[in-house]
Amino acid sequence: MNTEILKIDTYVQKPELLQPFAQMIKSGELVAFPTETVYGLGADATNANAVKKIFEVKNRPANNPLIAHISDISTLDAITKNIPAEFETLFSSFWPGALTVVLDKKEIIPDVVCAGGSTVAVRCPSHPIANELIRLSGVPVVAPSANLSTKPSPTRFEHVYDDLYGKIAGIIDGGECEIGIESTVIVKIGHNAVKILRPGAITKKMLNEKGFEVQIDEHVLAAVSNGEKVASPGMLHKHYAPKAQMVLVRGNDDKVIEYIRKTASESNDIGVLCFDNEQKLFGESVCLSYGNPDNPTSLSHNLFNALREFDKTDIKKIYARVIPPEGIGLGIYNRMLRAANFNVVAV
Ligand code: TXA
Ligand code: MG
Repeated sequence: MNTEILKIDTYVQKPELLQPFAQMIKSGELVAFPTETVYGLGADATNANAVKKIFEVKNRPANNPLIAHISDISTLDAITKNIPAEFETLFSSFWPGALTVVLDKKEIIPDVVCAGGSTVAVRCPSHPIANELIRLSGVPVVAPSANLSTKPSPTRFEHVYDDLYGKIAGIIDGGECEIGIESTVIVKIGHNAVKILRPGAITKKMLNEKGFEVQIDEHVLAAVSNGEKVASPGMLHKHYAPKAQMVLVRGNDDKVIEYIRKTASESNDIGVLCFDNEQKLFGESVCLSYGNPDNPTSLSHNLFNALREFDKTDIKKIYARVIPPEGIGLGIYNRMLRAANFNVVAV
């Protein structure tokens, strides 16, 4: 298939350039586009055949539902019902932005979007390209991360190109995604109470500050055991995985560094996912930094790119430095746990 590519400066809005891509979405084709979290693979959320193409192209399990993206809150009523009044605070505080809410769906959203369930996850992205593309399409746009299933989510144009070029109608190159991990997904569990199903840049503390009690789903930090029921099917599937086996190393800095240094020196096919200025500590190993632990958003911004960089090398095992699972660190740690298939060494 011919894939149309458009490179566009995020900060210069050129709606006329987006028009042909909006047209592709309207006519049931797939378009990948940048958002503030990760690149999304978009299709008309009201067109079941278009949505099916997403599952085919990504090789995504059919029981993992999609997020419907809207360009402004006025569309929310058209696709969902029973919207809790208290969510108004969340919409006015965090939309457009990296918050996804699970709500009761209306008929217009076909079953394939929601894996047959009665709810639909909705997000209003803040990225100007994403927002304008959705507005021009005139329909809600489902958009999972624009990667092949199981691979690290795409945060740069090159990642999307590597996974999907030749398989979809269009890719919009808007440079690097600022946040770098996917949105926070929440669901109402009581009056002024929500549960975080997937942690992201909108943190527990930020939701607390808006007057909400917040539970963190147990599967954010724990593997799902066989046959266990989950609140969000995304928790069931293999995710974000680099080719090499990853091991997270937790503990105090000196001990962690010593453990990784010693282990890495015993073999020549080990890589280290480290912090800035640590490369020199690990001798001959392939070391890639994903940022500065004092600035956690630098870590979320670079994480998936670093995992994809390791895929270009021959290393068989990656030892990774981690930050505590707090604030946006919870989202980062959640993605790394899955990428490592819950392989953690505490030293
Ligand atoms: O930041 C993001 O959310 C990105 C960008 C492109 O917007 N999108 C994204 O989509 O991450 P995806 O499909 O990769 O992840 C959707 C997540 C999955 O974990 C899925 O299980 C959960 O949202 N989800 C979707 N619909 C749901 C529902 N009705 N109930 C519970 N969880 C749901
Ligand atoms: Mg995904």
